[in-house]
Amino acid sequence: MLTQLTASMTLPVIGSPMFIVSGPELVTAQCQAGIIGAFPALNARPAEVLREWLQQITDTLDDYNAQNPQQPAAPFAVNQIVHPTNDRLAHDLALCAEFKVPLIITSLHAPNRVVEQVHAYGGLVFHDVTTLRHAKKAIDAGVDGLILVCHGAGGHAGRLNPFAFVAEVRQFYDGPLVLAGAITKGEQIAAAQALGVDMVYMGTRFIATQEANAQPAYKQMVLEAAAGDIVYTNLFTGVHGNYLRQSIELAGLDPEALPEGDKNAMRYGSGGSSKAKAWRDIWGAGQGVGGITTLNSVADEVATLRTDYQQALDQLRRR
Ligand SMILES: Cc1cc2nc3c(=O)[nH]c(=O)nc-3n(C[C@H](O)[C@H](O)[C@H](O)COP(=O)(O)O)c2cc1C
Repeated sequence: MLTQLTASMTLPVIGSPMFIVSGPELVTAQCQAGIIGAFPALNARPAEVLREWLQQITDTLDDYNAQNPQQPAAPFAVNQIVHPTNDRLAHDLALCAEFKVPLIITSLHAPNRVVEQVHAYGGLVFHDVTTLRHAKKAIDAGVDGLILVCHGAGGHAGRLNPFAFVAEVRQFYDGPLVLAGAITKGEQIAAAQALGVDMVYMGTRFIATQEANAQPAYKQMVLEAAAGDIVYTNLFTGVHGNYLRQSIELAGLDPEALPEGDKNAMRYGSGGSSKAKAWRDIWGAGQGVGGITTLNSVADEVATLRTDYQQALDQLRRR
């Protein structure tokens, strides 16, 4: 089942979906480089734009595959926020079915009905989780894989250590696992596989690429920041997430004295409980920022990751 996704991948990586940052340019570059590219459906605004994006991505990848039959592009994924405030879900899923999007990544609530709809057209569903309870709920909903979002991940992140989380999930689940959180280097991909996962999820690493839809100042901040600059707060969306301290300061707030957010005020992508808008003014990033020092094209970055990953595997074998 997993081979349906991995057959044309050159590295076990999913370029994770990032609000505002991930668009067709980033996604197609990631797929052409041999990793899964993903974007949140809600990035295509207004809703009608989603059809244009799906058409553009499909056409670009079809053309690429026609010219590169020996090494076709990796598949792409669309992220759906399963939450009562997402009133586009039915519309966006219907379009994904029409375009037969190979992988749907669901976030927040258990994706019960989504799984049926996606399986009906032959697609797969991976669900991202931060706790054991949610992992079990997603398995009950029939998902095809779990994404374990651990401590230090960019955007909405969990609190669990990856060693602890993977070990516990593996006690009751032997299906596909994707590990997320502060993974920015080839050797970390090898380390994740050694832990027993099938793929890794990388978000923050791709903010600092030429194809990311992020302001130059945001990319620069990612290049300059270190792990200690990442602030974990629920103020901006009502759900705990990781953000760059420097962007919080630029918005006139004191990162050391942020009030609690209001979970009930959660609107994904809105300003939540603060005037400064999360994602637009307050920039999300994970603790992996310290390992990011170059602003490459996606193709160059994935080539570096691939080389470092192979070297790490060779070194491990030698040891
Ligand atoms: C700026 C930013 C925006 C994000 N937006 C979303 C989103 O819209 N949907 C989602 O499922 N995850 C979102 N995430 C989380 C990522 O998909 C992923 O879990 C995370 O980037 C992995 O950790 P890493 O950034 O340390 O690699 C976002 C992350 C970042 C950094």
